[in-house]
Amino acid sequence: MKKHKALHVFDKDLDSQAEMALRELLVSCFPHETKFRKQRYNNEIPLHRWFVYADGEPVAHLATHEKQFVFEGQSYTFCGIAEVCVREDHRGQGLVGMLLQQAELRHASFHFSILLGDTEVYERYGYTKVSNVYFLSHSPKPNPDAMIKCLRAENWPTGDVFIDGPRF
Ligand SMILES: CC(C)(COP(=O)(O)OP(=O)(O)OC[C@H]1O[C@@H](n2cnc3c(N)ncnc32)[C@H](O)[C@@H]1OP(=O)(O)O)[C@@H](O)C(=O)NCCC(=O)NCCS
Repeated sequence: MKKHKALHVFDKDLDSQAEMALRELLVSCFPHETKFRKQRYNNEIPLHRWFVYADGEPVAHLATHEKQFVFEGQSYTFCGIAEVCVREDHRGQGLVGMLLQQAELRHASFHFSILLGDTEVYERYGYTKVSNVYFLSHSPKPNPDAMIKCLRAENWPTGDVFIDGPRF
């Protein structure tokens, strides 16, 4: 099996060819998400992207947003993981783990990493399901898919965590 490598790119540095290849990957992995047919992001443009390439084409991708929330008067930084996808013919090789590792390294000084995803995919990479994350712009209820990982010594808050802005 070929050895894969994750490459970092700032979203602002993507050229039109790279953007088109990314959109093709996103559309193939999220066929029901119509937004990717006209843009390369879900709700907000992320700051960072990581890609795995095979034969010149992106086959795996993960984006991050740099964000913060305030809990009991203290500000906590986190990376919001978004748009994780692996082309069908490259799944099951742990590429998600490689991308997550690179993103977490980049954000090692942040308190937490947060994503919205399936336990079956992310638990093995150290993420824990939590039921106290709210995106009030979307719903008054806690997000049922929120998973977190502590990147530093701080524990995840036990009370309600309100995140400004849209879901990522
Ligand atoms: C989710 C996705 C990125 C996982 O890629 P992958 O390369 O298979 O990831 P891994 O190699 O780390 O394997 C993940 C494990 O989760 C399982 N899995 C993958 N997608 C799953 C899903 N939607 N629901 C439940 N389990 C899933 C895989 O079967 C595998 O389990 P196994 O090793 O016990 O067989 C890929 O399936 C994909 O791109 N899906 C479409 C887009 C998507 O749903 N992205 C996630 C948004 S949060």
